[in-house]
Amino acid sequence: MTYLPAENRYDSMKYNRTGRSGLKLPAISLGLWHNFGGVDTLENSRAMIYKAFDLGITHFDLANNYGPPPGSAEETFGTILKQGFKAYRDEIIVSTKAGFYMWKGPYGEWGSRKYLMASLDQSLKRMGLEYVDIFYHHRPDPDTPLEETMGALDHIVRKGKALYIGLSNYNADQTSKAIQILRQLGTPCLIHQPSYSMFNRWIEHGLLDVLDKEGAGCIVYSPLAQGMLTDKYLKGIPDSSRAAKPHGFLNEKDITEERLDKIRKLNDLAQERDQSLAQMAIAWILRDSRITSVLVGASRVAQIEDNVAALRNLDFSQEELSRIEEILK
Ligand SMILES: NC(=O)c1ccc[n+]([C@@H]2O[C@H](COP(=O)([O-])OP(=O)(O)OC[C@H]3O[C@@H](n4cnc5c(N)ncnc54)[C@H](OP(=O)(O)O)[C@@H]3O)[C@@H](O)[C@H]2O)c1
Repeated sequence: MTYLPAENRYDSMKYNRTGRSGLKLPAISLGLWHNFGGVDTLENSRAMIYKAFDLGITHFDLANNYGPPPGSAEETFGTILKQGFKAYRDEIIVSTKAGFYMWKGPYGEWGSRKYLMASLDQSLKRMGLEYVDIFYHHRPDPDTPLEETMGALDHIVRKGKALYIGLSNYNADQTSKAIQILRQLGTPCLIHQPSYSMFNRWIEHGLLDVLDKEGAGCIVYSPLAQGMLTDKYLKGIPDSSRAAKPHGFLNEKDITEERLDKIRKLNDLAQERDQSLAQMAIAWILRDSRITSVLVGASRVAQIEDNVAALRNLDFSQEELSRIEEILK
């Protein structure tokens, strides 16, 4: 069955400039960390990619280790590309990363030139691509000189294997140093990918200022706190939810009574705004103009539709913002 994308796919999405670069990213991007692995159904994964693209989501985020098993999300994405989506390669931004454990031995994780070069070659093979648009170093490496890691990223761009470079999970100080090195090498840092949500606000204390000053973009991950900032856990733990699954990093014990109390109050406020809690959580992140894109995950098509509809109401009154601060205290 040939896929024909929606004619009106660019009509309602908002596209933001990434820092001071020439690249625009959709205000909402889709991540393939969960639900695109070998353990998941290809048909559901494909339906989510196509729905996202139909709604103007042009950016798909991967990493070498996404699955499970590790590598299988890139394989799934490669299969979807090969079976029809590759016709739209020039309309999409594909990112991948290396930094976390991927294979045995001393060259299978962290930040050496050896690991980064080999990992990207493996990722390109799994996806059947000649280049990715953005290649990230996934986490800082305390043992490898920053010059070596940044040198490898610069080399990767010069070889044409990635068009842009990003950093993920670097703190403000590490980011500042890495950006200076990249600038000296002549390959600017396009973007940073940190965690951020109403429940996790560390980037407000330095990182966002560094990115703003240096002209780098910011795409935030786990904006819904892996699903906690939705109404799904208000009546217990659904069987199909991330918290109930054996793999992943969200556990039933994370859904505490204290959390639920905040979620309930936030959900009430979202309803007053005629939004789902997921939509309000996304809109709240986009209130800061330094955020380029909100990188959501999804387990089904309806969640992507729900999340993109957040763009219909991005405005907050001062009173609403104060109420949110009060709830999050
Ligand atoms: N750089 C890094 O170190 C790093 C780390 C983590 C993630 N990431 C990236 O960020 C992406 C997003 O992370 P994330 O998946 O943790 O983000 P998230 O958006 O906080 O959580 C996604 C989960 O929330 C639930 N959900 C989403 N929309 C919903 C809706 N409208 N209503 C109800 N539930 C909804 C789904 O959970 P259920 O499965 O329960 O339905 C979905 O799997 C990843 O795919 C990855 O690309 C990067």
